[in-house]
Amino acid sequence: MNENMTTQANTDASGASPKSADTQTLTGRRSFLGWLLGIGTVTVGGLLSVPLVRFALHPLTDVTTETAWSDLGSVDELSTITAPKKVVITVNQVDGWRKVIQEKSVYVVKEGDGKLKVLTSICPHLGCSVRYDDGDKKFACPCHKGVFETDGKLVSGPPPRNLDELDSRIADGKLQVRYQSFRQLVPTKEVIA
Ligand code: FES
Repeated sequence: MNENMTTQANTDASGASPKSADTQTLTGRRSFLGWLLGIGTVTVGGLLSVPLVRFALHPLTDVTTETAWSDLGSVDELSTITAPKKVVITVNQVDGWRKVIQEKSVYVVKEGDGKLKVLTSICPHLGCSVRYDDGDKKFACPCHKGVFETDGKLVSGPPPRNLDELDSRIADGKLQVRYQSFRQLVPTKEVIA
């Protein structure tokens, strides 16, 4: 008899035990809080990771272009050249996290109208250094026999385009160049560093 009374007291009108309803509510609240906590953690983690990811990718996403201008010599002197003149410049290059100081060769060329321009010495095929042949009056690449005119125009061989012209300017009576590297094996000039 006592046992029956106790059982009736723990059972509501719908037949469900109030104790079990409380437990379900508590479990529901807990899972909601857990879900909320999870969303919060993911959001905060995502926000905090943005600067870290940008920091880690910096060398990959940043253009490592050498923007400094290098002197090539006096314009008056260079204007007297009768053939492409090779000049070696010192360039600071950023390679990932490393800063590298390298020597690069460029060619100063006088065009038909007397204007000076600067060509890279890097062959656009696979990156070998071209040399100017005074006898043939052509640039020649020793690796796969690429040949270019004095003004850099492709004559023959596997290179996919002309020799690349570098940005140049005149400042204080001096010809200056901004050294850049370009993608190889493509028909159009694309700066890569
Ligand atoms: S690297 Fe110059 S022709 Fe191949």
